[in-house]
Amino acid sequence: MAQPEKVILYTRSEIARRVKDLADQISRDYAGSDLLLIGVLKGAFMFMADLARAMSIPCQTDFIRAASYGAGSESSGTIVITKDVDAEIQGRDILIIEDIVDTGLTLRHIVDTLKLRKPNSIRVCAFLDKRGRRKIPFEADYVGFSMEDGFVVGYGLDFNEQDRHWPDVYVIPNPV
Ligand code: IMP
Ligand code: MG
Repeated sequence: MAQPEKVILYTRSEIARRVKDLADQISRDYAGSDLLLIGVLKGAFMFMADLARAMSIPCQTDFIRAASYGAGSESSGTIVITKDVDAEIQGRDILIIEDIVDTGLTLRHIVDTLKLRKPNSIRVCAFLDKRGRRKIPFEADYVGFSMEDGFVVGYGLDFNEQDRHWPDVYVIPNPV
């Protein structure tokens, strides 16, 4: 079957520059704090690896995984945490690292769940923010790039579990 045509959206060098800016900003904002980065699997693995390596302050790293039950690429609104964080949350400064904010439902659920464990602070850093697609209001505290709509792959983001390993980000015009 023919692959849908893909168009490059963010190149690896644009991504590297933006990730470095974010890492500098986060390093300033969290200087002297007890920072725990929590990556949302699987999509955030590449962004988190680059971001953490570009930071100049100490931090710990952990992961969480959430599944959204719904048809195809549409989020149903029922979010379930399928792999929980191992680390202690109480009293710590939590920065959730996510690949993309789309409807906002996944991050809303993760933030609300982790807040119950009484962190000192909790913020979100998203590589991409698809602003035109929200089902609920949700603002990430740090955003790599903002876009309106469109389905993107690469740099951790997948289409049916393919293409996560690509170093650049592409738009797939008509994902099916
Ligand atoms: P939300 O709950 O609708 O905000 O969905 C967030 C999740 O949907 C992300 O963590 C991604 O895994 C996935 N997602 C949303 N948009 C895209 C996209 O354009 N490409 C790949 N995955 C996406
Ligand atoms: Mg994801």
